[in-house]
Amino acid sequence: MKIAISGATGQVGSKIVSQLIDEDSCELVLLSRRGVGLEEAERKGATVYTGDVKEPAFLREVLAGVDTFYLMFPPQNKVDDVIGHYQIILDNAIAAIKKHHIPRVVLQSSYGSHLSSGTGPVVGTYLAEKALRTLDIDFTAVRPSYFMENFLWFADSIRENGAVFLPISGEASTCFMATQDIAKAAAEVILDTQWHGNQIKELHGHCDLTFDQIAQIIEKELNFPVKHVDLSDEEAISAFVAPEVGFSRPYAKAFVEVHRAIENQWLRPEFPHSQETETMAFDRFVRDFLRPAIADTK
Ligand SMILES: NC(=O)c1ccc[n+]([C@@H]2O[C@H](COP(=O)([O-])OP(=O)(O)OC[C@H]3O[C@@H](n4cnc5c(N)ncnc54)[C@H](OP(=O)(O)O)[C@@H]3O)[C@@H](O)[C@H]2O)c1
Repeated sequence: MKIAISGATGQVGSKIVSQLIDEDSCELVLLSRRGVGLEEAERKGATVYTGDVKEPAFLREVLAGVDTFYLMFPPQNKVDDVIGHYQIILDNAIAAIKKHHIPRVVLQSSYGSHLSSGTGPVVGTYLAEKALRTLDIDFTAVRPSYFMENFLWFADSIRENGAVFLPISGEASTCFMATQDIAKAAAEVILDTQWHGNQIKELHGHCDLTFDQIAQIIEKELNFPVKHVDLSDEEAISAFVAPEVGFSRPYAKAFVEVHRAIENQWLRPEFPHSQETETMAFDRFVRDFLRPAIADTK
């Protein structure tokens, strides 16, 4: 089975590559912008292509003969048209899928992709799911919840200020998952040749934690005071567009929107909570990933 993985150096994509690289049945085609870190996979027989998924020619040229295409949308926090960014990549992907008659597509979507508005960048994966469902292909949307790795963004501010700054109430809860568990579930979908038609694989993880509880777990594991700080919309936008962070204003607004949607429970899983997917506990995520990241930034 020839499998193309976009975002192959990303948080999820790189872990899918690790899951699949030693599978005898898989011939891997790995796509990324720069290819850094794919050398070992290449030595083991994967084909590596570097290029820009926003350039129509790139996907058109590299997907010939592919049986399964894992499509992800790279986050781009500097763009002025947040949803336009998704639409360009989606159009390029669909053109390549049609050109090469790719029979199976697995999308790295997001929870909340059943909602057409009010969810910031997640509207991009809503549009992608909707469009891909209309094609004559086997299609699975893998919908992960809030990545635990998002807290790695706050390594500096946790170390320097003992705080996680987000535009969301500390009392709000959502579903959290580690990217290694998302990659494992996605790899299972990619390897499973038994499913057909359109399906949704919603990954829930831990749905019982509030953002205040997240800060408490970080505090306990790091053994110094850590608090969650709920920024107002205006505070968040001006912090995220500052040069140190560098978001475009439209992306900063979309980032606020997605957090407010989580807070008011507009953005939540479409389907009842499932324990089916294995999920790392948040305290282990802090020990194994956040604590080393905080030490690295010293
Ligand atoms: N964060 C969340 O809580 C969350 C929740 C649900 C769903 N999601 C979805 O997951 C996505 C992010 O996944 P992730 O964190 O695994 O991504 P990531 O770690 O940011 O990885 C981005 C990947 O895309 C590649 N890339 C970046 N720009 C590119 C371009 N213009 N052309 C070709 N390749 C490009 C990068 O290649 P290089 O390394 O070579 O630059 C890298 O392989 C989001 O966009 C969203 O759709 C996120």
